[in-house]
Amino acid sequence: MSYDEVREADPAVADALEGELERQEDTLAMIASENHVSEAVLEAQSSELTNKYAEGYPGERYYAGCEYADDVEELAIERAEDLWGADHVNVQPHSGTQANMGVYLAMLEPGDKILSLDLTHGGHLSHGHPANFAGQLFEVEQYEVDPETGYIDYDALAAHAEEFEPDIIVSGYSAYPREVNFGRVQETADDVGAYHLADIAHITGLVAAGVHESPVGVADFVTGSTHKTIRSGRGGIIMCDQQYADDIDAAVFPGGQGGPLMHNIAGKAVGFGEALEPEFERYAKQVVDNAKALGERLQEHGFSLVSGGTDTHLVLVDLRDSHPDTSGTVAEEALEEVGIVLNKNTVPGETRSAFNPSGIRAGTPALTTRGFDEEACERVADIIARVIDSPDDEGVKSEAAEEVEILCAEFPLYDREGQLTDSE
Ligand SMILES: Cc1ncc(COP(=O)(O)O)c(C=O)c1O
Repeated sequence: MSYDEVREADPAVADALEGELERQEDTLAMIASENHVSEAVLEAQSSELTNKYAEGYPGERYYAGCEYADDVEELAIERAEDLWGADHVNVQPHSGTQANMGVYLAMLEPGDKILSLDLTHGGHLSHGHPANFAGQLFEVEQYEVDPETGYIDYDALAAHAEEFEPDIIVSGYSAYPREVNFGRVQETADDVGAYHLADIAHITGLVAAGVHESPVGVADFVTGSTHKTIRSGRGGIIMCDQQYADDIDAAVFPGGQGGPLMHNIAGKAVGFGEALEPEFERYAKQVVDNAKALGERLQEHGFSLVSGGTDTHLVLVDLRDSHPDTSGTVAEEALEEVGIVLNKNTVPGETRSAFNPSGIRAGTPALTTRGFDEEACERVADIIARVIDSPDDEGVKSEAAEEVEILCAEFPLYDREGQLTDSE
């Protein structure tokens, strides 16, 4: 890994890039939506395709010189079809948010109704938050998780849908640790004559590897981000049946975007290729095993987990029972000081605010890429517990920082050849 060319041309940017590389090597990335892509994905993403305009789709471009852009996009599409078993795939959305926008633009009119999970219960801005275009263009009502169990209450969702008569129901979440019953949501959508969008942004990799139920072929539309658990180039993806293919493609381009980010699509193709290898299944299973181990150990230390545990890559810790005077913000900042990078998060029934919420969210995709197993995740849980117990104790934090340093050295991000340690 070197930024020699950047350093020569622009030392200030080179400093920032090198700083970021070191930051990633020397800290534990536990933001549940993050991962470390392979060198091959990084290289593809920084390729000369960044220079190419390729408006349109393979074989039908508005510009000349697209033969290699076509090759790359076709490879990404074929591999996505194989990975998720999708009938039609669009790999052009610039991000998961743009993928959702593609579905809304294709299927809804302004003023139509969206029924989605409340942001503070684990939903996402692009599911209809007032600060997002989706909340501004459409009429939105939101469902919640069961306050007692922390699970989606599918009966309550069905009753809400009967009453609200939405045009689309959104499932798939940002901070929901349990397996989603996509089939049940589709039944509700069918009963009320709504479309169903399953947004698997976070769990694309778990679904591809078969460690989470797949909505593909079940939900009308499936969207995702491509840089989270699936560990490919940065961006988004939409999957649907052939009957919606033309509408979706037109909504992505020219409807909502201009020229596709062909370099990112190259990164998607490479990452999808890696995920088709048998090794990826082992990785995805380990991600979930690690999250379970992390969560169970935190519970042993007295922490409460929303829903009592996890079936996925993340745990959502509600600090109110165990640490009523410690907000998620205080926990996030103290943990960052020792090299554990995760995020504060609202919890169902939030009593503080979005900026200073009562929970933290911790994910295992990036740690697992570094080679962490259950035992290593238990060690991380021990450190997290000690720091949150004493967020102002400099002695505790300096010991914790040393332990993080040891873990980073034990599980280096890149090996001597500059390859991700887990990617051989
Ligand atoms: C459920 C869900 N949908 C969509 C997104 C948006 O993805 P992106 O950041 O790629 O726009 C996220 C991001 O974390 C998410 O959690």
